[in-house]
Amino acid sequence: MPEQRAVQPLEGVRNSVVDCVGNTPLVSLQRLFPTDDAEVIAKLELMNPGGSMKDRPARYIIEQGMKDGTIPPDAHLVESSSGNLGVAIAMVARVYGLRFTCVVDPKTTQTNVNILRKLGAHVEIVQEPDDQGGYLKTRIRRVKELIHTIPNSVWINQYANDLNWQAHYYGTAKEMVEQLDRPVDYFFAAVSTSGSILGCARRLRERFPHIRVIAVDAVGSVIFGGKPGKRELPGIGSSRVPELLNPAEIDDVIYVHDREAVQGCRDLLNQEGIFAGGSSGSVVAAIQKTLPKLPKPCRILTLFPDRGDRYLDMVYDDDWVAGLDPVPEELEALKVGS
Ligand SMILES: Cc1ncc(COP(=O)(O)O)c(C=O)c1O
Repeated sequence: MPEQRAVQPLEGVRNSVVDCVGNTPLVSLQRLFPTDDAEVIAKLELMNPGGSMKDRPARYIIEQGMKDGTIPPDAHLVESSSGNLGVAIAMVARVYGLRFTCVVDPKTTQTNVNILRKLGAHVEIVQEPDDQGGYLKTRIRRVKELIHTIPNSVWINQYANDLNWQAHYYGTAKEMVEQLDRPVDYFFAAVSTSGSILGCARRLRERFPHIRVIAVDAVGSVIFGGKPGKRELPGIGSSRVPELLNPAEIDDVIYVHDREAVQGCRDLLNQEGIFAGGSSGSVVAAIQKTLPKLPKPCRILTLFPDRGDRYLDMVYDDDWVAGLDPVPEELEALKVGS
């Protein structure tokens, strides 16, 4: 009860770190794309307090659930996540005093496991690969077991939860249309659950009906019917088609190989001083490949989902990069859509 407190809270001081989610800036990438007839603008979602744009769905799903009673005060949250969403849920759960079990796999970085544990999450590491050589199906199977055994468990289910895309419709994209005083022609976004691209596309199309929405997927991801294959970068791509996906809302898909994403990250760091994660490098690479073919003048909007710190042992480590497969020669032919 604020009125019973001897010290009243100051106006402008946030209630908690959860209230610091969102309101991220837009930045013009003029050094990386120094052309007069095109402007590339990035929303720095990496500035969210948990380190990624996944703070938005974590906050939105939990706060909506607390409001409508589907997440009661004694709820025990469960989710399968190898990184950003898990960290974001752990942060929000800590603030609201909720328990959280995060199901991860052996490919989850030790740093992320440590962060999850420091934030108070219980971490379960599945060990058995699924029939595709990945761990997603094993993780989902474990989540289903857990929700039947943990009392008051609530599965966040990011791949199928409509609140995921709504977090971006009412958050990320609402901010973008307020921040932009001129139309944008293209929206590029890296895809995994498809929550962010669809939530943003739905809002951006209301304001800019002619905008073209370009999905950036990883070579080896099956989201848009690609051939399953080896992928090393977390955050982008998936080994299953998300329930949330509606391909009719995506105008084009650009495939980016892990090596191209690494180069994109390094270009971004060298030219703009932006230290970002793998999927930001993927969208940079996708824009670099596509920009010469786009009608001019044009304005491109994109998202940089997370920071580079948690990728020091991957994207920013030359030995790790040396171990990546080469970019396949037929990559250009993998591009689908019009
Ligand atoms: C770093 C990063 N980039 C991009 C994405 C893709 O976002 P979405 O799941 O909304 O498609 C994710 C999702 O986990 C992510 O962690």
